[in-house]
Amino acid sequence: MTLRLLPETTVNRIAAGEVVERPASVVKELVENATDAGARRIEISLADSGRNSIVVTDDGSGMSADELSLAVERHATSKLPDDDLLQIDSLGFRGEALPSIGSVARLLIASRQPGADAAWELLVEGGRKGQVKPSSLARGTRIEVRDLFFATPARLKFLKGDRTETGHTLDVIRRLAMARPDIAFSVSDERGKRLRLEEADGDLLDVRLRRLADVMGRDFADNALVIDAERDGIRLTGYAGLPTLNQAYSRSQYLFVNGRPVRDPLLTGAVRGAYQDLLARNRHPMVALYLEIPPREVDVNVHPMKTEVRFRDAGQVRGLIVGALRHALAGAGHRASTTVAAQTLGAFRPGTGMPLLSQTGRGYRPSGGSGNAALSDYYAPLSGMETPSARVETGGEGGHLAEAQGPYSAAEQDADESYPLGAARAQLHETYIVAQTSNGIVIVDQHAAHERLVLERMKASMARGEVKRQGLLLPEVVEMEEAACERVMARVDEFAELGLTLEAFGPGAVVVREVPALLGTTDVVGLVRDLADDLADLGEGLTLKERLEEVCGTMACHGSVRAGRRLNAQEMDALLRQMEQTPNSGQCNHGRPTYVELRLEDIERLFGRR
Ligand SMILES: Nc1ncnc2c1ncn2[C@@H]1O[C@H](COP(=O)(O)OP(=O)(O)O)[C@@H](O)[C@H]1O
Ligand SMILES: [Mg+2]
Repeated sequence: MTLRLLPETTVNRIAAGEVVERPASVVKELVENATDAGARRIEISLADSGRNSIVVTDDGSGMSADELSLAVERHATSKLPDDDLLQIDSLGFRGEALPSIGSVARLLIASRQPGADAAWELLVEGGRKGQVKPSSLARGTRIEVRDLFFATPARLKFLKGDRTETGHTLDVIRRLAMARPDIAFSVSDERGKRLRLEEADGDLLDVRLRRLADVMGRDFADNALVIDAERDGIRLTGYAGLPTLNQAYSRSQYLFVNGRPVRDPLLTGAVRGAYQDLLARNRHPMVALYLEIPPREVDVNVHPMKTEVRFRDAGQVRGLIVGALRHALAGAGHRASTTVAAQTLGAFRPGTGMPLLSQTGRGYRPSGGSGNAALSDYYAPLSGMETPSARVETGGEGGHLAEAQGPYSAAEQDADESYPLGAARAQLHETYIVAQTSNGIVIVDQHAAHERLVLERMKASMARGEVKRQGLLLPEVVEMEEAACERVMARVDEFAELGLTLEAFGPGAVVVREVPALLGTTDVVGLVRDLADDLADLGEGLTLKERLEEVCGTMACHGSVRAGRRLNAQEMDALLRQMEQTPNSGQCNHGRPTYVELRLEDIERLFGRR
């Protein structure tokens, strides 16, 4: 074999193999170039989802005839003025996109600089470069890519169906558009306009939120918390969805580093860590986060498509993200997303108009229930707080149904405004608390709500390092598989810190001597088994602290007022007041809402009163 340098076209095709994977990657490179050229308006049009042709038009700075000729050469770039790879403030810098695309497709570039007398064009077909010729174009740059992969047909076979390819392309544009709300984007194909995002002026954060609403949906914009944190010269801004606005996939988590959309597993991990005790493991929140970091702290040159970055101190970035998200989430208090109420209202169906009695054959009778255990131990008295419905007497045979009290007095109404969750009016099915607020009703899931309260208290006492434990009169022996016992025993110190004292008891059992006092009387065996399952699931992905909190979540679930427990009016109000004062109380540990709020206005609409 002869050792030789490869011809240029072959070199470019090899580069294209990395950079140009599918129509979406062509669109990405061209739109990035338009953005770097200072465009305010970028139009993309696709034929046959980009296989047949991709046209990208911009109103940016354009190129002179000489620049045009140079732009399609390998390693030609205008973006590294002093060859400093550590100081990159443009999306491009590799000088590879145009020659790569030109080597595998037919690339026609027309361009005109502002104030120039003429426009110029240049065609590159399968790596063969033509002559720069006069062209007609009012301003900016128009790039047309036809017959993608005609020169490397093997690549065509890897393309997926139209829907998938167009989906990839739209995804690329959405990401770039989220980073640059000051640029208008439009995408069209044979079916018409596929995406249209108008540019907006004004304060960056407002403009950004509007763009996010257009891209991620109104629900996100309405139910997102503002993120703004800074540490050691690194700044994080953006929006994080309330936990109750969760999804089955983590696709809607976006990270931008110095204006560049990136896919970084660090984000997924950090988001998981931050929401970890607010969501079930198979549910994911929506976030859009913008990191501004000194260029020297991040290497953007690690991936040919520039979609990944490497942080000099990944732990620091992760810490900033987790901290900022948690801070915002804790500040959200009991807020649950408005989508919950909308979903609830959507689920209501108007009655048939038939008398209810003839439908059911009998009137409503409260069902008999379990014993009325005193819950005052659970709800520590709130100092100096008279709950607004303290006057509400319990009524009905079971003593658990707080009867409706007639119209609100003025005094109650005042009280109400300062108590967003209102005054408890009734407990239904021994599971739901119905409360009246100044402008609507609130339905609380008592188990979910109490679980959250217990968890937040455990976390607080853990943070203060003063976890109260309670000895068991009879130590409880829990039998489990040997592996499960080992997992639990390996964490015995962490459990002790949480108030759960365990000892090994032969190969297939552990003995429990103390449990966290907050849990009250609890099913100790079930608790330890669940914890063993947790440990098996969690693995090493989470930090120690996050793991402890996950474990707290499981414990809290065990220590909570189960559904099916009767509560009296005072207990119900105490629960509502505590929810108002507890961080994250809008959702249980699994991301389900703890309460639903229906505004009077919406209820009136249900009955056709509006
Ligand atoms: N739409 C455009 N408007 C103005 N100049 C452009 C445009 N697209 C490409 N160029 C010029 O062509 C050069 C090469 O582009 P490219 O191959 O994508 O490499 P890079 O973007 O890494 O510099 C750019 O540096 C820029 O000077
Ligand atoms: Mg480029």
